[in-house]
This record gives sequence, C-alpha cells and structure tokens, in this order.
Amino acid sequence: MESTPAAWSQVDAFLADTLVGHDPALEAALTAQREAGLPEIEVAPVAGKLLDLLVRISGARRVLEVGTLGGYSTIWMARAVGPEGRVVTIEAEAGNAAVARASIDAAGVGERVDIRIGRGADVLPTLVGGFDLVFIDADKESNTVYLDWAAKLGHPGTVIVLDNIGRDGEIVRDDSTDSKVIGTRDGLRMLGDDPRFDATALQTVGAKGWDGVALAIVV
Ligand code: DHB
Ligand code: MG
Repeated sequence: MESTPAAWSQVDAFLADTLVGHDPALEAALTAQREAGLPEIEVAPVAGKLLDLLVRISGARRVLEVGTLGGYSTIWMARAVGPEGRVVTIEAEAGNAAVARASIDAAGVGERVDIRIGRGADVLPTLVGGFDLVFIDADKESNTVYLDWAAKLGHPGTVIVLDNIGRDGEIVRDDSTDSKVIGTRDGLRMLGDDPRFDATALQTVGAKGWDGVALAIVV
C-alpha cells in the first residue's frame, strides 16, 4: 500500500472496527454534534479508546478535560472512571456545552460529568485540584497556560494528554506564523523543558490525517 491519507483512513477504519467496535451512544453524540453544526474535530474512535485505556491503566478517578466540544471524548473518559469517578470538562462555547450535556446525559454518565462553561484561563483558577488525568484539547494558542494549570491541579503521577501535536508536520517550521502551530510548539517545548513534566509524543496518521498526541506525567 502507498502511504496516502486515503490509506491511513482505511487502516484507521479497520482498527476501529477490529478493536473499538460500534457504540450507539458515542455515535449518537457525533450525529448530534454534526447536526448542531459543531466542527468535526473530535478525537478519532481509536484515540477515544486510547483515552479510555489511559484512564483505566492509571486508575484515574478524577479527570479534567479542557475542550469539551460535543462531549465525545468526555463520554469515553466518564465511562472509564467508573461509577465513583468524576470528569470536570471546560467548554468556552455555551452552545457546544448544551450539545455535550444532552449527549453525555443520553449516554447514561451525566452524574459523573461537571461541564464548566467559560474560557479555560478563567475557569481553571476556580477548580479544586487533585486531578489524576488531564486531557488538553482546546485552543492550541493556550497550551502552555493549560499545561501550567494541569501541573498545579494535578499531583505527582498525574497523566497529561495533549492533543494535536503534529499538525500536518507544521510543528517543525520554526518560522511558522500560524498561531496554532506556535502554540503547539510552545506546549511541546514546555513539556520538554519544564522540570514538572516528563513527556513524549507520538505522531499519528489516520482518519484525522497527520497529527499526533503528547503524553506526560507530573513528576
Ligand atoms: C483542531 C483542533 C483539534 O482539537 C483537533 O483535534 C483538530 C484540529 C484545530 O483547531 O485545528
Ligand atoms: Mg483535538
């Protein structure tokens, strides 16, 4: 096979079929999101399952998400934390939060999820810490702000997942004027340089093109 975006999508679909399967609540969340006109930039099914596995492998009970969108990744993590677990998820757009609220409730995990409406930079200082896993998937320009709060609101051992670190390879362009690329590079540099973190990152290809995810632990 030639390594083309079409081939990556085909393989992604095979992996999702083989390892993730179909799930009515998650698929309904995507339909609701699309019908409401939200951007289709949620994590791929295989990445949703990765979040689920990271929550379960780490035994996380308190999860923080920055960037709810339509609640797709939120449902994945709310299921993974179990009945006693909780997810606090921050969403800047009230309309997105309403779509997410309905989908999360319909998935049967509503009582585990606290949606906070507002900009991350405004909401994060109001939260009580102790989060075991933090998933950052919001405006890329604020990645360093979100990483700083993830460290402050976490504890040694807290898992941090930072989405969209590949951006079609643009992250190697140190002369990029794209604010998302600059924010992504700044976030990666912080994960490398700031002694509070130990991190790595993996490039991904698949249904969402060429991108990647960074994983870190709070030391
Ligand atoms: C964008 C944001 C995302 O979280 C994502 O997964 C893909 C793209 C974006 O803003 O371009
Ligand atoms: Mg993302």
